[in-house]
Amino acid sequence: MENEININSLIYPLFIIKGEKKKEPINSMPGIFRMSSDILLKEIEELKALGINRVLLFGIPDKKDDDATEAYKDNNIISEAVKLIKSNFPNMNVMTDVCLCAYTSHGHCGIIDNQKIDNKKTLLTLSKIALSHACAGADYVAPSAMADNQVAAIREELNHNGYQDTKIMGYSAKFASSFYGPFRDAADSAPKFGDRRAYQLDYRDKESALKKVQDDINEKADIVMVKPALSYLDIIKEVKDKFNYPLAAYNVSGEYSMVKLGVQEGFFNERKIVTEIMTGIKRAGADMIITYHAKDLADWSKNEK
Ligand code: PBG
Repeated sequence: MENEININSLIYPLFIIKGEKKKEPINSMPGIFRMSSDILLKEIEELKALGINRVLLFGIPDKKDDDATEAYKDNNIISEAVKLIKSNFPNMNVMTDVCLCAYTSHGHCGIIDNQKIDNKKTLLTLSKIALSHACAGADYVAPSAMADNQVAAIREELNHNGYQDTKIMGYSAKFASSFYGPFRDAADSAPKFGDRRAYQLDYRDKESALKKVQDDINEKADIVMVKPALSYLDIIKEVKDKFNYPLAAYNVSGEYSMVKLGVQEGFFNERKIVTEIMTGIKRAGADMIITYHAKDLADWSKNEK
């Protein structure tokens, strides 16, 4: 059927921490864990068995500083995880989030100078992070800092170092949203002062969102993204209609947790409500959906047969 969910189009986010045998439940996101890389391998094995072939990795360091050094130093948490996955499961499509907020002591997505994001320094840092992930074997790097020209800067750095084949998924239309609340708890990445409205989009402003998508396409992103998904289905549709470009939608933490809590309370049938939501996102025009529900969806589709 048209608009049926294809498990191969789902991208499952994973939160990686240092250490061994660690699997910490995330309070604000029932069913989702932070895990060390040994547990990660078991998780990937499970995903493979379920038919999920794409993951998006987020690193949560144990140390933070103003320059986000933990994000790009040699053998950083994500490059180690990528190497491990790729050496054991070469066919797994590994995407990595490229941002600073989980690594900076102030929790903002860029390098701060005088209480403001310094675009040039931020682009340099994002490029270093992306290069470290590409060297480790990431298939896609996904800059989410909403820094102007981030895709172009990263593309140039990757090409310059011989990583022409590493692709880029831009978090193109990323709105300043309350729906990221549970994620910030998971990644310990809430800003310590101010908010992200200086660099994330105002949800009243559709034109800027379309412009950001156009910018990312001009800068040679391989996939563009709309985030969050549910309150932005019109944007998803318009981006697909206008650009007809590979498009991901991010069904974010708050959208996930609302559903999970409702299910836990017995208000919804989980399979039915999640399937309805995913179909809506797909129908709006998303080619790929980044979702914490991916494992459940894959599980249900197996049980059908
Ligand atoms: C990092 C980033 C965020 C999310 C993905 N990458 C948080 C934010 O912008 O505060 C949110 C994902 C989610 O809520 O599931 N910039």
